[in-house]
Amino acid sequence: MNGSTACKRMAFKDFHTAPGLTETDEDRRRKRSLIGGDLALRRQHGKPVQFNGRWILDPIFRDDDLQSLRQFCQQQANSELAVEVGFQLGEFAVEYCVERPVSRLVGFEVRKHFCEETDALLQSCGIESARLCLADARTILPEILEPGTLDHLYVFFPDPWWKPRHVRKRLVSADFLADAAVWLRPGGRFLLKTDVQAYAQWAHALLMSNPMFTTQILADRHAGLPWTLRERRCELHGHPTWAIEAVRNEIVTRRQDFLVD
Ligand SMILES: C[S@@+](CC[C@H](N)C(=O)[O-])C[C@H]1O[C@@H](n2cnc3c(N)ncnc32)[C@H](O)[C@@H]1O
Repeated sequence: MNGSTACKRMAFKDFHTAPGLTETDEDRRRKRSLIGGDLALRRQHGKPVQFNGRWILDPIFRDDDLQSLRQFCQQQANSELAVEVGFQLGEFAVEYCVERPVSRLVGFEVRKHFCEETDALLQSCGIESARLCLADARTILPEILEPGTLDHLYVFFPDPWWKPRHVRKRLVSADFLADAAVWLRPGGRFLLKTDVQAYAQWAHALLMSNPMFTTQILADRHAGLPWTLRERRCELHGHPTWAIEAVRNEIVTRRQDFLVD
Protein backbone atom coordinates (compact mmCIF):
# COMPACT_ATOMS: atom_id res chain seq x y z
CA MET A 1 0.00 0.00 0.00
CA ASN A 2 1.49 3.38 -0.92
CA GLY A 3 1.38 6.42 1.36
CA SER A 4 -1.61 8.11 -0.24
CA THR A 5 -3.76 4.93 -0.13
CA ALA A 6 -2.93 4.47 3.54
CA CYS A 7 -3.87 8.07 4.15
CA LYS A 8 -7.24 7.69 2.42
CA ARG A 9 -8.13 4.54 4.39
CA MET A 10 -7.29 6.31 7.62
CA ALA A 11 -9.34 9.33 6.62
CA PHE A 12 -12.47 7.24 5.99
CA LYS A 13 -12.13 5.65 9.40
CA ASP A 14 -11.68 9.01 11.06
CA PHE A 15 -14.58 10.92 9.50
CA HIS A 16 -15.99 12.93 12.39
CA THR A 17 -19.42 14.26 13.21
CA ALA A 18 -19.99 17.64 14.81
CA PRO A 19 -20.05 17.74 18.61
CA GLY A 20 -23.09 19.25 20.38
CA LEU A 21 -22.86 23.04 20.52
CA THR A 22 -24.51 25.73 22.59
CA GLU A 23 -26.22 28.60 20.83
CA THR A 24 -23.34 31.02 21.42
CA ASP A 25 -20.81 28.44 20.25
CA GLU A 26 -23.00 27.86 17.24
CA ASP A 27 -22.95 31.54 16.31
CA ARG A 28 -19.18 31.85 16.67
CA ARG A 29 -18.67 28.60 14.83
CA ARG A 30 -20.76 29.81 11.90
CA LYS A 31 -18.77 33.00 11.47
CA ARG A 32 -15.39 31.30 11.91
CA SER A 33 -16.22 28.61 9.40
CA LEU A 34 -17.00 31.06 6.59
CA ILE A 35 -14.41 31.32 3.85
CA GLY A 36 -12.93 34.80 4.20
CA GLY A 37 -14.47 35.15 7.70
CA ASP A 38 -17.34 37.23 9.03
CA LEU A 39 -19.10 39.12 6.21
CA ALA A 40 -19.65 42.37 8.12
CA LEU A 41 -15.99 42.58 9.17
CA ARG A 42 -14.87 41.74 5.67
CA ARG A 43 -17.01 44.48 4.16
CA GLN A 44 -15.64 46.93 6.69
CA HIS A 45 -11.96 46.09 6.29
CA GLY A 46 -11.52 44.19 3.01
CA LYS A 47 -11.07 45.30 -0.58
CA PRO A 48 -12.91 44.42 -3.82
CA VAL A 49 -11.15 41.84 -5.96
CA GLN A 50 -10.12 42.70 -9.53
CA PHE A 51 -11.30 40.19 -12.09
CA ASN A 52 -12.13 39.82 -15.78
CA GLY A 53 -15.48 38.48 -16.79
CA ARG A 54 -18.88 39.46 -18.09
CA TRP A 55 -21.02 37.36 -15.75
CA ILE A 56 -18.92 37.47 -12.58
CA LEU A 57 -20.34 39.39 -9.64
CA ASP A 58 -18.72 40.48 -6.41
CA PRO A 59 -21.68 40.83 -4.03
CA ILE A 60 -19.39 41.12 -1.03
CA PHE A 61 -17.83 44.45 -1.93
CA ARG A 62 -19.89 45.86 -4.82
CA ASP A 63 -23.37 46.98 -3.92
CA ASP A 64 -24.42 47.19 -7.60
CA ASP A 65 -23.52 43.53 -8.02
CA LEU A 66 -25.50 42.59 -4.93
CA GLN A 67 -28.56 44.47 -6.24
CA SER A 68 -28.28 42.98 -9.71
CA LEU A 69 -28.01 39.50 -8.21
CA ARG A 70 -31.12 40.10 -6.11
CA GLN A 71 -33.03 41.19 -9.20
CA PHE A 72 -31.81 38.18 -11.15
CA CYS A 73 -33.04 35.84 -8.37
CA GLN A 74 -36.33 37.62 -7.91
CA GLN A 75 -37.38 37.80 -11.57
CA GLN A 76 -41.03 36.81 -11.75
CA ALA A 77 -40.72 35.19 -15.18
CA ASN A 78 -41.69 31.54 -15.49
CA SER A 79 -38.15 30.33 -15.29
CA GLU A 80 -36.72 28.00 -12.68
CA LEU A 81 -33.98 29.23 -10.39
CA ALA A 82 -31.07 26.94 -9.53
CA VAL A 83 -28.04 27.56 -7.32
CA GLU A 84 -24.82 25.57 -7.60
CA VAL A 85 -22.28 25.88 -4.82
CA GLY A 86 -18.63 25.24 -5.77
CA PHE A 87 -18.85 25.08 -9.59
CA GLN A 88 -15.07 24.98 -9.97
CA LEU A 89 -14.39 24.69 -13.75
CA GLY A 90 -18.05 25.16 -14.62
CA GLU A 91 -18.59 21.94 -16.58
CA PHE A 92 -21.95 21.27 -14.95
CA ALA A 93 -23.06 24.91 -15.04
CA VAL A 94 -22.45 25.32 -18.75
CA GLU A 95 -24.09 22.06 -19.79
CA TYR A 96 -27.04 22.71 -17.47
CA CYS A 97 -27.67 26.13 -19.03
CA VAL A 98 -27.36 24.75 -22.57
CA GLU A 99 -29.90 22.00 -21.77
CA ARG A 100 -32.29 24.37 -19.98
CA PRO A 101 -32.23 27.68 -21.85
CA VAL A 102 -35.13 29.18 -19.89
CA SER A 103 -33.75 28.37 -16.43
CA ARG A 104 -31.59 30.73 -14.38
CA LEU A 105 -28.46 29.51 -12.64
CA VAL A 106 -26.48 31.27 -9.92
CA GLY A 107 -23.11 29.68 -9.26
CA PHE A 108 -20.90 30.28 -6.23
CA GLU A 109 -17.16 29.80 -6.13
CA VAL A 110 -14.57 31.18 -3.74
CA ARG A 111 -11.67 31.05 -6.18
CA LYS A 112 -11.33 33.85 -8.68
CA HIS A 113 -9.59 31.84 -11.42
CA PHE A 114 -12.45 29.31 -11.47
CA CYS A 115 -14.91 32.19 -11.91
CA GLU A 116 -12.86 33.61 -14.78
CA GLU A 117 -12.49 30.25 -16.54
CA THR A 118 -16.20 29.48 -16.21
CA ASP A 119 -17.10 32.96 -17.40
CA ALA A 120 -15.01 32.41 -20.55
CA LEU A 121 -16.84 29.12 -21.17
CA LEU A 122 -20.25 30.76 -20.71
CA GLN A 123 -19.31 33.51 -23.14
CA SER A 124 -17.96 31.10 -25.73
CA CYS A 125 -21.28 29.19 -25.60
CA GLY A 126 -23.33 32.41 -25.77
CA ILE A 127 -25.03 31.69 -22.42
CA GLU A 128 -26.67 34.67 -20.72
CA SER A 129 -28.79 32.87 -18.12
CA ALA A 130 -26.06 32.32 -15.51
CA ARG A 131 -24.40 34.54 -12.91
CA LEU A 132 -21.15 33.66 -11.16
CA CYS A 133 -20.62 34.88 -7.62
CA LEU A 134 -17.18 35.19 -6.20
CA ALA A 135 -18.14 34.47 -2.59
CA ASP A 136 -18.83 31.87 0.04
CA ALA A 137 -22.41 30.91 -0.79
CA ARG A 138 -23.33 30.82 2.90
CA THR A 139 -22.67 34.54 3.29
CA ILE A 140 -24.57 35.78 0.23
CA LEU A 141 -27.51 33.41 -0.25
CA PRO A 142 -29.38 34.86 2.78
CA GLU A 143 -29.00 38.33 1.24
CA ILE A 144 -30.37 37.48 -2.21
CA LEU A 145 -33.02 34.79 -1.80
CA GLU A 146 -36.59 35.37 -0.65
CA PRO A 147 -38.09 32.41 1.24
CA GLY A 148 -39.64 29.78 -1.01
CA THR A 149 -38.19 31.10 -4.28
CA LEU A 150 -35.49 28.56 -5.10
CA ASP A 151 -36.20 25.50 -7.27
CA HIS A 152 -32.88 23.63 -7.02
CA LEU A 153 -29.90 23.80 -4.72
CA TYR A 154 -26.95 21.79 -6.03
CA VAL A 155 -23.88 20.85 -4.02
CA PHE A 156 -21.60 18.54 -5.96
CA PHE A 157 -18.58 16.81 -4.45
CA PRO A 158 -17.93 19.30 -1.62
CA ASP A 159 -14.64 19.18 0.23
CA PRO A 160 -15.15 16.54 2.99
CA TRP A 161 -13.05 18.26 5.70
CA TRP A 162 -12.13 15.07 7.53
CA LYS A 163 -10.50 16.24 10.72
CA PRO A 164 -12.42 17.00 13.95
CA ARG A 165 -11.17 20.60 14.01
CA HIS A 166 -12.35 21.06 10.42
CA VAL A 167 -15.88 19.67 10.80
CA ARG A 168 -17.20 23.22 11.14
CA LYS A 169 -15.86 24.07 7.67
CA ARG A 170 -18.12 21.55 5.94
CA LEU A 171 -20.53 23.21 3.59
CA VAL A 172 -23.32 20.80 4.46
CA SER A 173 -24.36 21.30 8.07
CA ALA A 174 -27.60 21.26 10.06
CA ASP A 175 -27.50 25.03 9.89
CA PHE A 176 -27.03 25.24 6.12
CA LEU A 177 -29.81 22.70 5.56
CA ALA A 178 -32.15 24.66 7.82
CA ASP A 179 -31.52 27.73 5.66
CA ALA A 180 -31.93 25.67 2.49
CA ALA A 181 -35.37 24.54 3.70
CA VAL A 182 -36.39 28.18 3.92
CA TRP A 183 -35.00 29.20 0.50
CA LEU A 184 -36.46 26.26 -1.42
CA ARG A 185 -40.06 26.40 -2.60
CA PRO A 186 -42.31 23.48 -1.58
CA GLY A 187 -41.41 20.70 -4.02
CA GLY A 188 -38.00 22.28 -4.68
CA ARG A 189 -34.98 20.09 -4.08
CA PHE A 190 -31.57 20.03 -2.50
CA LEU A 191 -29.23 17.65 -4.31
CA LEU A 192 -25.88 16.49 -2.99
CA LYS A 193 -23.41 14.32 -4.86
CA THR A 194 -20.31 12.94 -3.22
CA ASP A 195 -17.67 10.28 -3.69
CA VAL A 196 -17.09 9.99 0.07
CA GLN A 197 -19.33 7.31 1.51
CA ALA A 198 -18.98 8.61 5.07
CA TYR A 199 -20.00 12.09 3.91
CA ALA A 200 -23.03 10.61 2.11
CA GLN A 201 -24.11 8.74 5.25
CA TRP A 202 -23.56 11.74 7.48
CA ALA A 203 -25.44 14.16 5.19
CA HIS A 204 -28.23 11.63 4.70
CA ALA A 205 -28.68 11.36 8.49
CA LEU A 206 -28.72 15.17 8.84
CA LEU A 207 -31.36 15.50 6.13
CA MET A 208 -33.48 12.69 7.55
CA SER A 209 -33.57 14.53 10.87
CA ASN A 210 -34.97 17.66 9.21
CA PRO A 211 -38.78 17.40 8.96
CA MET A 212 -38.87 19.99 6.18
CA PHE A 213 -37.44 17.45 3.72
CA THR A 214 -38.32 14.09 2.24
CA THR A 215 -34.96 12.50 1.64
CA GLN A 216 -33.67 9.57 -0.37
CA ILE A 217 -30.45 8.20 -1.77
CA LEU A 218 -31.08 8.07 -5.50
CA ALA A 219 -30.68 4.84 -7.46
CA ASP A 220 -29.40 6.97 -10.37
CA ARG A 221 -26.18 8.36 -8.91
CA HIS A 222 -26.05 10.99 -11.68
CA ALA A 223 -29.60 12.17 -10.87
CA GLY A 224 -30.30 12.64 -14.60
CA LEU A 225 -28.13 15.76 -14.68
CA PRO A 226 -24.97 16.76 -16.53
CA TRP A 227 -21.84 15.43 -14.86
CA THR A 228 -19.29 17.53 -13.03
CA LEU A 229 -15.56 17.21 -13.61
CA ARG A 230 -15.10 15.21 -10.44
CA GLU A 231 -17.99 12.94 -11.38
CA ARG A 232 -16.32 12.23 -14.74
CA ARG A 233 -13.08 11.40 -12.99
CA CYS A 234 -14.86 9.04 -10.58
CA GLU A 235 -16.53 7.26 -13.49
CA LEU A 236 -13.27 7.00 -15.36
CA HIS A 237 -11.53 5.37 -12.38
CA GLY A 238 -14.50 3.22 -11.29
CA HIS A 239 -14.86 5.09 -8.02
CA PRO A 240 -18.38 4.90 -6.49
CA THR A 241 -20.45 8.06 -6.00
CA TRP A 242 -23.73 8.83 -4.24
CA ALA A 243 -26.57 11.26 -4.97
CA ILE A 244 -28.84 12.32 -2.12
CA GLU A 245 -32.03 14.16 -2.90
CA ALA A 246 -34.06 16.09 -0.34
CA VAL A 247 -37.39 17.47 -1.55
CA ARG A 248 -38.83 20.38 0.42
CA ASN A 249 -42.13 19.42 2.04
CA GLU A 250 -45.29 21.49 1.87
CA ILE A 251 -45.55 21.98 5.65
CA VAL A 252 -44.56 25.33 7.08
CA THR A 253 -42.35 25.21 10.16
CA ARG A 254 -40.37 27.90 11.89
CA ARG A 255 -36.66 27.54 11.21
CA GLN A 256 -35.73 27.29 14.89
CA ASP A 257 -38.14 24.36 15.36
CA PHE A 258 -36.11 22.05 13.22
CA LEU A 259 -32.56 23.35 13.59
CA VAL A 260 -30.61 20.44 15.05
CA ASP A 261 -26.90 19.73 15.54
C1 LIG B 1 -13.99 19.49 -4.38
S1 LIG B 1 -14.38 20.85 -5.37
C2 LIG B 1 -15.77 20.22 -6.31
C3 LIG B 1 -15.87 20.84 -7.66
C4 LIG B 1 -17.05 20.50 -8.56
N1 LIG B 1 -18.32 20.73 -7.90
C5 LIG B 1 -16.98 19.09 -9.11
O1 LIG B 1 -17.84 18.28 -8.73
O2 LIG B 1 -16.10 18.82 -9.93
C6 LIG B 1 -15.17 22.00 -4.27
C7 LIG B 1 -15.25 23.41 -4.85
O3 LIG B 1 -16.13 24.18 -4.04
C8 LIG B 1 -15.57 25.47 -3.79
N2 LIG B 1 -16.14 25.88 -2.50
C9 LIG B 1 -15.92 25.31 -1.29
N3 LIG B 1 -16.68 25.88 -0.33
C10 LIG B 1 -17.41 26.84 -0.96
C11 LIG B 1 -18.38 27.80 -0.52
N4 LIG B 1 -18.72 27.86 0.78
N5 LIG B 1 -18.94 28.64 -1.41
C12 LIG B 1 -18.57 28.59 -2.71
N6 LIG B 1 -17.66 27.70 -3.20
C13 LIG B 1 -17.09 26.85 -2.34
C14 LIG B 1 -14.06 25.22 -3.78
O4 LIG B 1 -13.34 26.39 -4.12
C15 LIG B 1 -13.92 24.13 -4.86
O5 LIG B 1 -13.70 24.68 -6.12
